[in-house]
Parts: sequence; structure tokens; C-alpha cells
Amino acid sequence: MIEEEPMSQRGTRYPGPIGEAAFHPHSLIAQGFAEDAALAALLDRYPAELFDINLYDYDDEGQVSLRTGARGRLDGAQLLEAIQQGRLWVNLRGVETGWPELWAAAMAEFQKIQATYPGLKAVKNAGQLILSSPKARVPYHFDAAGVVLFHLRGRKRIFVYPGDEAHLPERSMEQVVARQTTEELPYSCAFEADARIMDLEPGQALTWPLYAPHRVENLDRFCVSLSMDFQTWPSRFRNGALYANAVMRSRGGSPRFTDRMGQGELAARWAASLALRRMGALKSRIAHFERDFEPEVGAADGAGALRG
Ligand SMILES: [Fe+2]
Repeated sequence: MIEEEPMSQRGTRYPGPIGEAAFHPHSLIAQGFAEDAALAALLDRYPAELFDINLYDYDDEGQVSLRTGARGRLDGAQLLEAIQQGRLWVNLRGVETGWPELWAAAMAEFQKIQATYPGLKAVKNAGQLILSSPKARVPYHFDAAGVVLFHLRGRKRIFVYPGDEAHLPERSMEQVVARQTTEELPYSCAFEADARIMDLEPGQALTWPLYAPHRVENLDRFCVSLSMDFQTWPSRFRNGALYANAVMRSRGGSPRFTDRMGQGELAARWAASLALRRMGALKSRIAHFERDFEPEVGAADGAGALRG
């Protein structure tokens, strides 16, 4: 029996080979993926339905509000300029198919990083290329997956928080996994005392413990990163258990937290979650929301009026 390390040393209450946030080198920049010409050409050809364009605002308590953008009709070079001048966060989903050359190179880098964590075995990887404005900030959230953030251009400050119940309540995780809310995790400025702060330079990749909450601030430069998420069997089991718990809770139950479940119980709940999902036990409450703006060069924050 392996003795559990205390939470304070591991940075997460969940077991797994990645116990704390750590940097790894990568060679994706040398291959030219983050240069303006390559990015403009990519934006020209990328399918509009794979774009997320967000504009985040924060109040004095650090609470976020979100506006979303439509792809609009700028060509790739103009859209790139709008991002470089504005305050936009642009996410290109599905890099696996949208940019296979980058994806192949990134997967080769991932294999090297994975090999440094004995016992880590991803069974599914997916990628999002993130182009973000010099002053963009991503709010406090968690990803229901492992993440390797390959940084290609600009500078980013990543704040990683402990994955304990205070910072990462399982009820909130259930709601996110079951797509019952677009809300991020509850955030309080008091969490800042608990953050581990890491500055990310081009050529570095950052990973952190599975599910660890985090937020990102760009450091005054246009940033390009490839965010690769991955599932392992243990993460699939836990996500399934969180989904099953969400269903139980919606029916008036009070399920046990998944951090008190062993692998056998997690696996059983995952199997149950597959059936529950097939039955449509919980309908996604994430509505197909309206867009608020279109990117525009020279407009405030890079956000122009919708032109339909
Ligand atoms: Fe994230």
C-alpha cells in the first residue's frame, strides 16, 4: 500500500502521476507554427464552427462576465490584427484535424513529457490553439482532463490553485461535467494567497495535477499557445463518477465525493454514467447562446458590432 502524501505537498486531493505543476521544454516554435504568416493562413482556412471568440471583463472582486464573438468576415490577416490590437481570446478547437502538421509535432512532444511521469498513460488527446490579446485574462476554472499547455509566443502568467474541496468543490465539478452550467468554479480573491504563480515563456510547456483550478493573465504581449487536453482511464472513471453523482443529486440524492471512492467504485460509476448518458438522464442546460460582437480592427477591445 502506497502511503498518501498530504494534500499540501501534492497540490491535489486526487491520485495521479502529476503531483504538482511543472515546466517541460518543447520544440514547436523552431518549426515555425507561431509566425504571423502561418497564423493568418490558418485563420483564413479554419472552419467558423470551430472558433470560440471570448471577451472577458472583471469587476473589483475578480468576478468575470463574458461576451462572445461570431467569426465574422475579416480575412485571416485582419482577424490576426484584431486579436493583436484588441482584448480578445480566440480558441480554435479540433487542432487534431484543423492543423494536422502542428498536431503531429505536438503529439511527439507530448510523448516525451508523458514519459517523465511513470504511470501516466493518455488514452485520448485533443487540442485547442489559443490566440489571445496582450491584455487578455482567462478566468478561474478547471478542466475535466489532464492538460499540457504548449506556449509558442508572448508571455503568460499561470496561477495554479490547490485541488481541494475549498478551491474545487465537487458539486461544481459535477455541474460542469454534466453540462448543467456555463459558470466557472466559484472564485474568491482570498484564493490568491494559495496560488502557485508560474510565468510561461515560448518554448516551455506547463502541466499541472489533473483537475487543478487555474487562471491565466497575458503579460502585455500577443500570445499563442496550444492547449492539449488528455484523458486517462482514471480521469474517465472520475468524470463518469462525477456525472453519475450529478444525476443522483438532481434526483434528490446526496452522493459521496469521488475522492473517497476507490478505483473499483469509480469504474462502476463510470459504467453507470455511460448508460445514464445514453438515456439522456440530464439534458445539457447550456443553451445555444447569442453572439455579442464580431472582431473588428480598430474597434474598442477589437470587438465591433454584429453585422449578421
Ligand atoms: Fe484550462
